[in-house]
Amino acid sequence: MVIYHLSTECYPIAKVGGLADVVGALPKYQNKIKGIDAKVVMPWYNKPFVHDHKFDIVFDGFIHQGPDMLQVQVMKEKSDVLGFELYMVKIPGLLDRENPYGYHDESFQFIAFQHGVLHWLSAMKVRPDVLHCHDYHTGLVPFMTQHCPEFAFLKGVKTIGTIHNGEYQGMMSWNMANYMPSFDSYKWGLMDWNGFINPLASMIKCSHAFTTVSEGYLEELFISFRGLESLVREEFGKAYGIINGIDTEVWDPETDPMLDFNFNSKNAVAQKKKNKEKLCKEYGLKPELPLFAFIGRFATEKGADFLPDVVWKSIKQSYGALNIMILGSGNSYIENKLKEYEHTYTNFALDLGYKEHLSHKIYASADFLLMPSRVEPCGLNQMYSMRYGTVPVVRYTGGLRDTVEDISTGGAGLNFTYPSVDDIVHAMNRALGIYNQKGVMKELIHANMNFDFAWEKSAEKYIALYNN
Ligand code: ADP
Ligand code: GLC
Repeated sequence: MVIYHLSTECYPIAKVGGLADVVGALPKYQNKIKGIDAKVVMPWYNKPFVHDHKFDIVFDGFIHQGPDMLQVQVMKEKSDVLGFELYMVKIPGLLDRENPYGYHDESFQFIAFQHGVLHWLSAMKVRPDVLHCHDYHTGLVPFMTQHCPEFAFLKGVKTIGTIHNGEYQGMMSWNMANYMPSFDSYKWGLMDWNGFINPLASMIKCSHAFTTVSEGYLEELFISFRGLESLVREEFGKAYGIINGIDTEVWDPETDPMLDFNFNSKNAVAQKKKNKEKLCKEYGLKPELPLFAFIGRFATEKGADFLPDVVWKSIKQSYGALNIMILGSGNSYIENKLKEYEHTYTNFALDLGYKEHLSHKIYASADFLLMPSRVEPCGLNQMYSMRYGTVPVVRYTGGLRDTVEDISTGGAGLNFTYPSVDDIVHAMNRALGIYNQKGVMKELIHANMNFDFAWEKSAEKYIALYNN
């Protein structure tokens, strides 16, 4: 069975968040299953780490986008280190940029990507068994394969859409229809939602099945989905929640080259302490105190707007008996407020930016990882932290409620229900109580490290879905 995953991110080539981790791991684990050939297709980026890889040009052609004729080049990565074949689509002027997102013409970019991929496959007479589309950036592919005459060769190819984040739907004005490959105009309604072209809605309508990255998140979408609640209810029959795994080869505390002191569940307590001491020294924190960490985008869905108040309130309430370290970037109000507190509180350290190495060090050093998310379709941070023996303190939502069970019901993490500063600080206070019971803390470290979040089970679930 030949599967093409279509995505804007793929670790280690281009990563903004968890989408990259999933698309860089799922195909690798699928390829371990007999008879499966999973590949990845993504846009080309002009990033230094892309140039670390060697590519062959396997296709060179043209597509029409409105009045423009665009060159489409497909480059195939030459090594076999990734565990899957990787193709990158280069379109000069649109798909040859530094970053995946953040450009004013992203609708043009993503339409061109989808058009380019389907043009290439049709021209080369490649008919995969499954096109697996990830998030709204590739959400128009299920429509295009069925209703654009240009891709008649691909008609009937099975399409799966995975919703990693329903907060982003890629809505655009109907003017953009002029830049689509020509389509059967009677079918326009399959792209429409409330007077806009909505790629995520179109993916739900047109894919043969769609998935969310946890069961908990799927349940929540029926109630709150930025206007798509009725659609997801209508299409319920083809909706599946499949929890993400983690790449246990990349995220292995015993071999992780980004750590100062590697460890396994036997020597975790001592080795984590050494990692923590080193990190605290670098950031002026106090290694004898518990370390709470947050890693992530400064967005309201992540509850990052609570962080400044959480910093001062938790430090004040505990009379300075804890450390907090935050790694991330995003909303500038949050960034500035946190910068201000960095100067005020010696127990608080901040590193602004995206730093893969530092994130690994923090997972390995912290005692507790905070995830006060308002919305969390799956969340990978909690799984990385657990694998590195760090106790997750999470809001009970989406994928977090599927993966983190509270210690009061036999789990090894801490949950809180309401997204508010007081509830977060209350959960931190519970954590402090646990920290002071060394025996309990040791047990929690071991219990977290022994959880099985490997991709194997979920990779099988996707294959079963394709087979259906
Ligand atoms: P999302 O994709 O919504 O941001 P996930 O929990 O699925 O959230 O995945 C986030 C991924 O991005 C994890 O691998 C996390 O370690 C990483 N990450 C987030 N922010 C940063 C940062 N500032 N520096 C390094 N890694 C980060
Ligand atoms: C999205 C979600 C996150 C999920 C990730 C990978 O970025 O916000 O919860 O873990 O996709 O599926």
